[in-house]
Amino acid sequence: MTAIAQQAARRRTFAVISHPDAGKSTMTEALALHASAITEAGAVHGKAGRRGVTSDWMDLEKARGISITSAALRFEYRGHMFNLVDTPGHADFSEDTYRVLAAVDCAVMLLDAAKGMEPQTLKLFEVCRHRRIPVITFINKWDRPGREALELLDEIEERTGLRPTPITWPIGTGGFFHGVIDRIAGQSVRYTRTPGGATKAIETELTPEQALAEIGEDWERAKEEVDLLTEIGSDHDQKAFEAHESTPVLFGAALSNFGVGRLLDAMVDIAPAPAPRPDVKGDPRPLEEPFSGLVFKVQANMDPSHRDRIAFVRVCSGRFERGMVLTHAATGRPFATKYAQSVFGQERATIDEAFPGDVIGLVNATALRPGDTLYDGPAVEFPKIPSFAPEHFWTARVRDSSRSKQFRKGIEQMEGEGVVQVLRSDIRGDQSPVLAAVGPMQFDVVKHRLAGEFNTEIALDRLDFSLARLTDAESAPILARQRGVEVFTRTLDGALLALFTDEWRMRGVLRDHPDLVLEPLLADT
Ligand code: G4P
Repeated sequence: MTAIAQQAARRRTFAVISHPDAGKSTMTEALALHASAITEAGAVHGKAGRRGVTSDWMDLEKARGISITSAALRFEYRGHMFNLVDTPGHADFSEDTYRVLAAVDCAVMLLDAAKGMEPQTLKLFEVCRHRRIPVITFINKWDRPGREALELLDEIEERTGLRPTPITWPIGTGGFFHGVIDRIAGQSVRYTRTPGGATKAIETELTPEQALAEIGEDWERAKEEVDLLTEIGSDHDQKAFEAHESTPVLFGAALSNFGVGRLLDAMVDIAPAPAPRPDVKGDPRPLEEPFSGLVFKVQANMDPSHRDRIAFVRVCSGRFERGMVLTHAATGRPFATKYAQSVFGQERATIDEAFPGDVIGLVNATALRPGDTLYDGPAVEFPKIPSFAPEHFWTARVRDSSRSKQFRKGIEQMEGEGVVQVLRSDIRGDQSPVLAAVGPMQFDVVKHRLAGEFNTEIALDRLDFSLARLTDAESAPILARQRGVEVFTRTLDGALLALFTDEWRMRGVLRDHPDLVLEPLLADT
């Protein structure tokens, strides 16, 4: 095995995803703590009131207690290098999440034991299926009264079509969480809480005799359920997991660090390492080829004292060395990497080298956009990250016309970062572009950032559209004449988008003009 293949094989690049409140921030802390990236829970990722470094770069985040930015946390565990790519944690399903998922090899889906499948859980499972990302499911908050484990498995299977294959099974329910049976190791493990969950939970391995004597009935019941799972064939199957047909399931409580070590072990043992990524021609690029990387996120002004623009790049092949001069595939221009960093919230460290699976933050990345490729040596380009289907459309207008220039610049920047898409039409003119997003919170972000970073107040008005379809130059004039339809050019790529008030309106138009070109944007599929 080459040195690069060896390095890649010990990488695990993943995201923790969930419906809000299922415990993503808590899990991030717990993982980092377990892996000794930090010494005290809470120091990595905080919400309002906690010690946080991720969330306090932006007032809006503080006010709402949400995390808008995302970056990657690196830590080592059992000789493996983990890159935990953070996804935004707010209630909106955001375009950022799609992009982050383009950078990972595996996802950990958190479910709240009492709530099971929630709306965003389902949506995220769908996105993972679409992108063919294997999912490990972690049923969290098992320390609290919740649902039956078997019932939760049924729900996962019914709603996602994935076969759940528990690799740990909880001993005890409803606030009496004693530990787990590790089905792969064939062990019973008891957890003992440490005060406040501030340090790793204490794990004690029990022999069946000890488990029976010390835990009793709850253990016997768990054992029976485990036997049942074996009987019905719910065993981990690596091929099915990687083919996105099954999801390994673990049980735990991130808050008291129960089950988190087992999750990390599962990541080492079964989560896929970086593999050759197909380029635009569909040819997988071998890991040993010269450096190539995919920009999956661009973020400006993350830290007011830095005032910079960082592009987050997932290394796809080769070895990255700080100082390399790469080529930006979209423009053919050189890109110097003198300032390469790992970024997590406000913590930054210089990165000197990186391997497939790693995430690097490149500073001064003015020309880079999400979806761009950087490479060394012969040209290579990866497919663009599929653009999401916006469902919310607002017009933006500058309040003080003397700030028009800053307004234009600010909107351009938000578009470049992919915060919103910008749509224009002759009818509406340049002064009031239409902003499009998957979730309405993106508009708050634009407003807040224009005020904070460009000193420009804007007014936003909601438009009565909820559906966008791609169209062409022939269909556009016909569409523009229909009631409840407007046609725009997306400035980023020149695509023509027809906006409809709703699905019903679109069907009506199609009934009268069946030859019109109206194609769904990718995220609809
Ligand atoms: P999120 O990032 O997915 O939105 O969730 P977050 O980690 O903030 O967790 C949401 C709430 O659930 C928090 O409580 C958190 O403490 C709690 N929680 C997370 N994991 C567990 C767990 O394993 N067991 C129990 N019992 N609770 C858990 P909060 O009251 O909203 O916030 P806080 O005041 O505790 O910070």
